[in-house]
Amino acid sequence: MVSSAPAPALPDGLDAPVLNPASSPSTVPDLRPPAHVRALKVVRRPHRAGAPIGPELKSGEAFGDEAKAFDEATGFHGERDDFLESLRSFYTEATRDYRAWSAGYNMHFGWYAAGMNPFRRESMLERMNGEVLARVGVTGGRVADLGCGLGATARFAARASADLRITGLTIVPWQVREAQRMTREAGLADRVRFRCTDYTASGLRDAGFDGAYALESACHASGRDKADFLAEAYRLLKPGGRLVVFDGMLKRAPRSAFLKWCLRGCHRRWALETFAVKDAFLERMAATGFEIIQVEDLSWRVAPSALHIPAVTARFLAQMAVERLRHGKRAALSKERWGNALAPTLGLILGMSRHLFGYYAVTAVKR
Ligand SMILES: C[S@@+](CC[C@H](N)C(=O)[O-])C[C@H]1O[C@@H](n2cnc3c(N)ncnc32)[C@H](O)[C@@H]1O
Repeated sequence: MVSSAPAPALPDGLDAPVLNPASSPSTVPDLRPPAHVRALKVVRRPHRAGAPIGPELKSGEAFGDEAKAFDEATGFHGERDDFLESLRSFYTEATRDYRAWSAGYNMHFGWYAAGMNPFRRESMLERMNGEVLARVGVTGGRVADLGCGLGATARFAARASADLRITGLTIVPWQVREAQRMTREAGLADRVRFRCTDYTASGLRDAGFDGAYALESACHASGRDKADFLAEAYRLLKPGGRLVVFDGMLKRAPRSAFLKWCLRGCHRRWALETFAVKDAFLERMAATGFEIIQVEDLSWRVAPSALHIPAVTARFLAQMAVERLRHGKRAALSKERWGNALAPTLGLILGMSRHLFGYYAVTAVKR
């Protein structure tokens, strides 16, 4: 997907994204976008409604019976129910445990590039923040972090460019309070704000943002195509603004009982209705009005950080066992924390099933 040829002319209106290195403190990695991002070009045009879009999945109404088989395999029943409530209690309980993964509470996978040390997880996680921002492609103005966790990426952006204002959205009140505290301590509270709101119905004004990104958070929106999330992101962006989504997505429905079990376990433990289905997501994106600039398969880029999962999980569970011995029942893990400890291993198994699952970066622009 990614072009290594000399940068071709960009499509109309797509200026090469250049983050402002002059305004970056020396502790922040160089955020100039990699050559392949400077060479952004349309590699995937919007689908025609009803056209076949993959080996197993079809678009629009044609989804029909296959959709049923798919929902059966993923455990998705199409109802929102008390889903948001369980999402809130999941992240209220489990967010602290992300400390075992990242000192800076980067609640996502890392970006590996040649020359990086694959054992230094935090550097890969931080590099991921830079890659997301390079694709958003603005060095000033207002950017929305849709599903911001504890604000690691938002603070990274604010450090990278003094002209950026970032608004982080999360539906979890506890995350907002913690993110605000961490941001105040980092001295960035004047440019990074957090809102406790649903990114599918944020209540923020139309066209208030120059860019937006969702780093491993769009997966929590409803349905295979994340229609509600995409509609709201479109509304929030100014014309010409980019939406960048980094996430794991399904390529097709699993057939084997074991992979179905892994997928359902992942969904349940990570508070997901269903992961996005890549082709359904892209089709919906185009139908919402976005022009898709680039779809990158990053599965190999994130693999080195994903391979940290077994060791991090083992260390975390050992620490929890010691806590339990010391403090008795008080230190017992809740079901949400157990879920969050085990889901990454299931995710790793899915990720290794390359026919089924991939990790993608989708860059799109509101026309
Ligand atoms: C895996 S975390 C990723 C956090 C952050 N992007 C990062 O990489 O560190 C997913 C985030 O999405 C947020 N989220 C999920 N559903 C949401 C919704 N409907 N509205 C707003 N935020 C949501 C969660 O609260 C959580 O903060």
